[in-house]
Amino acid sequence: MTSLVITGIGLLVTNDAEFETGPLGELIDAAVVVERGRVAWVGPARAAPAGDTAVDVDGACVLPGFVDSHSHLVFDSDRAGEFDARMAGRPYTAGGIATTVAATRAAPDERLAANVARLMGEMVRAGTTTMEVKSGYGLTVADEARTLRLARGFTPETTFLGAHVVPPELSERPDDYVDLVCGPMLAACAPYARWIDVFCDRGAFDVDQSRAVLEAGIAVGLLPRLHANQLEAGGGVRLGVELGAASVDHCTHLNPADVTALAGSDTVATLLPGAEFSTRAPYPDARRLLDAGVTVALATDCNPGSSYTTSMPFCIALAVREMHMTPAEALWAATAGGARALRRDDVGHLGVGARADLTLLRAPSYVHLAYRPGVDLVGAVWRSGRQAR
Ligand code: NIG
Ligand code: FE
Repeated sequence: MTSLVITGIGLLVTNDAEFETGPLGELIDAAVVVERGRVAWVGPARAAPAGDTAVDVDGACVLPGFVDSHSHLVFDSDRAGEFDARMAGRPYTAGGIATTVAATRAAPDERLAANVARLMGEMVRAGTTTMEVKSGYGLTVADEARTLRLARGFTPETTFLGAHVVPPELSERPDDYVDLVCGPMLAACAPYARWIDVFCDRGAFDVDQSRAVLEAGIAVGLLPRLHANQLEAGGGVRLGVELGAASVDHCTHLNPADVTALAGSDTVATLLPGAEFSTRAPYPDARRLLDAGVTVALATDCNPGSSYTTSMPFCIALAVREMHMTPAEALWAATAGGARALRRDDVGHLGVGARADLTLLRAPSYVHLAYRPGVDLVGAVWRSGRQAR
């Protein structure tokens, strides 16, 4: 058994209540010992046990790797023209998804897989060590199954999103499409998925259709999560809470009953500020959620339409500047919050026994993630104890 000691850590964020320094379980002048891909010891550098190898990080700040709990990486084509038109005043609608669906259906597996690998490479270089990936640009039985199978080759956190929008060929028969999603498409996709998701919003699926999709997924053992309340204050968030969803994502438009329901539940509100940035929409009211006691996560929503970023540091900077989260709240939401949204207790923190997923910043503090926006501060990344950047 070989062990690695990472020492000389100026500021270590553990997100572990055992360390009571600061809101994030912070340690100053710390070391971490990694064995078999897990955190084996955490404490003051002067007390660290000897290891087989040692790395001195010279006073850098080290964090749990970011947990990006919401992305759509399996697609072909980009929609820069749509973004350009939006910046000239056109609104974002769910309809643009059809453009990516046509290109994705026509793309061979190798091309789609290469795109996932490219985007995941970007994610890791930006400090992300756990990522969820959704289907949703195939929208036929065969294309949803193959895009999920491809995603499964990259991450265990795969989500069946056949109910992204009604595809053009069934636009006059949306209920037939819901039947297809709940029947043959779910049967073909469930073996490759952990989660079931639905876009419950204007221009996509209503609450009854969304309920049907989520209940069908739950019946075959998938765990529910939703896209909800991005475009209007509909019933998606409350449906998610009612069904025990791990997370409701977007939460841009909420009424008081939504906030009350979330506050009394285990459902995480996952905020995706890259989408508001890229669709020039109002940002979600993170303070209202945090002050009500709701668990908040941050994720990129990486997709070619509404949020073509892989950068969790960018989302943290937006959350701090535009959504009035403190740097500590935003970092927690991008690590431990993302882990809660994926119902994972082995990632998002650096307590003993956690996966040895660490992100090193070329900076003395995590505050620099927002203080120095747009700057590549990530100096090293370890995933399960192996250096990935
Ligand atoms: O999460 N809201 C629904 N789906 C994506 C957008 C997908 C697209 O526009 O291609 C989202 O923002
Ligand atoms: Fe999304």
